[in-house]
Amino acid sequence: MSYLEAASDLYKEAALQPDVGLCCTTNPVWQFPGLSIPEIMLEMNYGCGSTVSTQDLVNDSKVLYVGVGGGMELLQFAYFSRQNGGVTGVDVVDEMLEASRENLKLAEKTNEWFRSEYVKLLKGDATQLPIEDQSMDVAAQNCLFNIFKEEELKKAIAEMYRVLKPHGRLVMSDPICEQPMNEVLRNDDHLRALCLSGSIPLKQYVKLLTDAGFGTIEIRGRKSYRVLSPNHYPTDQLIHIESIEIAAIKDPMPQDGPCIFTGKTAIYYGNEPYFDDQKGHVLVQNQPLAVCDKTAAALARSSDDIFVSKSTWHYNGGGCC
Ligand SMILES: C[S@@+](CC[C@H](N)C(=O)[O-])C[C@H]1O[C@@H](n2cnc3c(N)ncnc32)[C@H](O)[C@@H]1O
Repeated sequence: MSYLEAASDLYKEAALQPDVGLCCTTNPVWQFPGLSIPEIMLEMNYGCGSTVSTQDLVNDSKVLYVGVGGGMELLQFAYFSRQNGGVTGVDVVDEMLEASRENLKLAEKTNEWFRSEYVKLLKGDATQLPIEDQSMDVAAQNCLFNIFKEEELKKAIAEMYRVLKPHGRLVMSDPICEQPMNEVLRNDDHLRALCLSGSIPLKQYVKLLTDAGFGTIEIRGRKSYRVLSPNHYPTDQLIHIESIEIAAIKDPMPQDGPCIFTGKTAIYYGNEPYFDDQKGHVLVQNQPLAVCDKTAAALARSSDDIFVSKSTWHYNGGGCC
């Protein structure tokens, strides 16, 4: 059995019998006025963060969501789009699609604004999406891509890039891990399917996105997720896994490389009213400007009177590029 089949089997079980602890996080479940999330969707919240951000959902966004789980984020996205077929959910596991369909029907009873037709559910694989080119404004996945090995991960990212419109947004939540994992862990199909042994360092994750063509990256959240300890897992060392929320925007690739926002700001503290780097960045004295890492480094080099703050890993828009 391949690792992909092992993952499908695990999520078939998790569709038939909700597993509350499967991908539990410290993330709050977003509640909005008039939104009532059925209990079963909460029990089947198999994500490791949130992919639903109001800032991405302006102007009648068409949303694709890959790896549907119990349907909670489909419902949250539908809250904003409220149109037939405004949200498309794709999953490779029949039982998960069915569970999601049932849960959305339940949600209809407690959410007077919601119709099941707002969400279109399709059978399909993340590495070969049944979706037209450049048809989506937002494409989301939560806690699926970390399961993939590099070949499938590259294909899945390329597929998301293909289906997004220009300037469309790939929004994701996934575990990452900065420590090396041994081959026993890496090749354990069950742990990989559980989102415990497939995660890669953030820098590598971001590089796969920028290599696929995404010109802007935003790291929106970074939190503690799990540890793999020697007394429970085949490892000599304690391994810490984090989860990130990240957006990759299909902006054209800048000539000098991608803009990667990690939450840095630049503050000019010289004696002039402002500092102008002549490249589009004007820093008013003692006012923070959110900058991408590339601009932060260039500004720090260009003046002794500029303070650059550290990455917060919580960037929420605004800024230099
Ligand atoms: C960890 S769960 C996350 C579910 C959901 N995103 C959430 O946050 O609750 C992974 C989901 O991806 C689906 N899945 C697994 N392999 C897939 C593949 N190759 N293509 C599409 N979906 C897949 C599973 O059936 C499951 O719904």
